[in-house]
Amino acid sequence: MGYQDQIDLSRVPQHIAVIMDGNGRWAKGFGKLRVFGHHNGVKSVREVVEAADDIGVKYITLYTFSSENWNRPKLEVTAIMELLVSALSKEIAQMMKNNVKLSAIGDLDMLPPRCLRELTSSMEKTSGNTGIVMTLAISYSSRRELTQSAKNIAQLVKDGKLNPEDITEEVFAQNLYTHDLPDPELLIRTSGEYRISNYLLWQIAYAELYFTPKLWPDFRREDLFEAVLDYQKRERRFGKTSEQV
Ligand code: IPE
Ligand code: IPE
Ligand code: MG
Repeated sequence: MGYQDQIDLSRVPQHIAVIMDGNGRWAKGFGKLRVFGHHNGVKSVREVVEAADDIGVKYITLYTFSSENWNRPKLEVTAIMELLVSALSKEIAQMMKNNVKLSAIGDLDMLPPRCLRELTSSMEKTSGNTGIVMTLAISYSSRRELTQSAKNIAQLVKDGKLNPEDITEEVFAQNLYTHDLPDPELLIRTSGEYRISNYLLWQIAYAELYFTPKLWPDFRREDLFEAVLDYQKRERRFGKTSEQV
């Protein structure tokens, strides 16, 4: 029996977040340049999003490029931005066919104009789609997102539109990039690194964490199902005792 058949479809996470890591090491294993790994990572994105949709996941949020990644060698950064443009234009037909709604979070103004244009136009094309919401975190930093939320709220208070005592967790969450996404129940990180790297710090407060040694370009359909199965074996207690849940 494959992993997919063992999944309890009534308990599939609604939102899965993924840290797609290990492209560089994957390429190195073939004696190739790092960008070779990024190129091959696109296939994993396609497969994983389709697999998630097949089992009823509603939202998938992919860490595509962090704010810190701007500090990589210029050649790699340029190659990743180019890849983003070409992958979006290549994948748009498939996204339409699969009813995928594309979205993006992060400091998008930092993107090269061509890249931002392609992203915006792809998002517009898929805006009427009603299937899985695929959110790309690009030029994303969770600390920056949280700082921005605090700034927005401070401005509301300054303008007399909000009382400090009315600043609730909900108000805070409403001012994050992710205001229209539920919190992820499952966070997957590939490549054997056990860290969060400034990703969705507020949103993953109660997410189940799943780490796998597989490098991102090797992470495919079956691997996603395996992660979901692992998630389903866990008991989510939210601070209560085992007897209470
Ligand atoms: C993840 O793979 C992709 C990005 C961060 C853009 P890496 O490029 O970080 O690959 P490793 O971790 O160096 O192997
Ligand atoms: C995190 O991977 C960012 C993305 C996957 C886009 P990194 O490779 O940049 O993270 P660190 O540097 O290992 O923490
Ligand atoms: Mg990495």
